[in-house]
Amino acid sequence: MIDSKTKIFLTPEDRVFVLTGAGISAESGLPTFRADDGLWAGFRVEDVCTPDAWRRDPAGVWAFYSARRESGQKAMPNPAHFALADLEKRLGERFFLCTQNVDDLHERAGSVRLLHMHGELAKSRCERECGRAPVEDHTVYQNLAEVGRCTCGGRLRPHIVFFGEVPLEMDRIQDEIAKATLMVVVGTSGSVYPAANFVHWARQNGARTVYIGPEQPLNALAFTNVVLGKAGEVLPGLFV
Ligand SMILES: NC(=O)c1ccc[n+]([C@@H]2O[C@H](COP(=O)([O-])OP(=O)(O)OC[C@H]3O[C@@H](n4cnc5c(N)ncnc54)[C@H](O)[C@@H]3O)[C@@H](O)[C@H]2O)c1
Ligand SMILES: [Zn+2]
Repeated sequence: MIDSKTKIFLTPEDRVFVLTGAGISAESGLPTFRADDGLWAGFRVEDVCTPDAWRRDPAGVWAFYSARRESGQKAMPNPAHFALADLEKRLGERFFLCTQNVDDLHERAGSVRLLHMHGELAKSRCERECGRAPVEDHTVYQNLAEVGRCTCGGRLRPHIVFFGEVPLEMDRIQDEIAKATLMVVVGTSGSVYPAANFVHWARQNGARTVYIGPEQPLNALAFTNVVLGKAGEVLPGLFV
């Protein structure tokens, strides 16, 4: 364990893979997922983010994600998002950012080499997986009748990976982890798979691994270093 004044020294050979979770957006005012009450923004996960919830109650699912869109649009990137965008500017293609977050605070801070493995709040897609690409959609729906349909007739659903669905672009993620010499994980409890396994994959390839957050994640033992602190306070100035 190292303290928040520690620096991480990068060499010209380093390739950095960053994984972020809900904790990096906490200082922007967005609630994390596993708060003490086990609810996410007052909802039970199984009621709002599973394929079964979508089949049973699409109106309820859209009410939840519409509210997430609304609060996501009001939130602003914090110093942690900006610090990662700044690191990308310095490292160029030796940097890759994978986020579990569905908010767009990383891109609004300037990150480009970025992948949303659990989908994006600001997009919708056909519920039938008919092959049409997700579309940009910032609408805060008031009721199900407002939700559009795909040309195939399927209803538009949030472009979100529900629990029980396969995360997006896993091949690309595995390629990027295989190339990394340093993995930095920020603000994720280590309880959602496969993301919680990324640190193990990185270590198998010999990479250094660093966790940043105010408490130990469940997979803390897999990290070379754990820096206990808030992302917005630790990340700026961490990389030298
Ligand atoms: N903003 C978002 O897009 C958002 C918000 C909530 C949940 N989710 C989804 O829910 C799932 C939850 O998994 P998860 O592991 O990301 O979240 P989680 O809620 O399980 O864990 C959040 C972690 O963040 C840490 N944390 C709290 N404040 C922090 C801070 N200021 N700086 C750094 N870390 C801090 C906590 O200690 C905790 O370990 C993800 O799949 C994600 O898609 C997304
Ligand atoms: Zn369709």
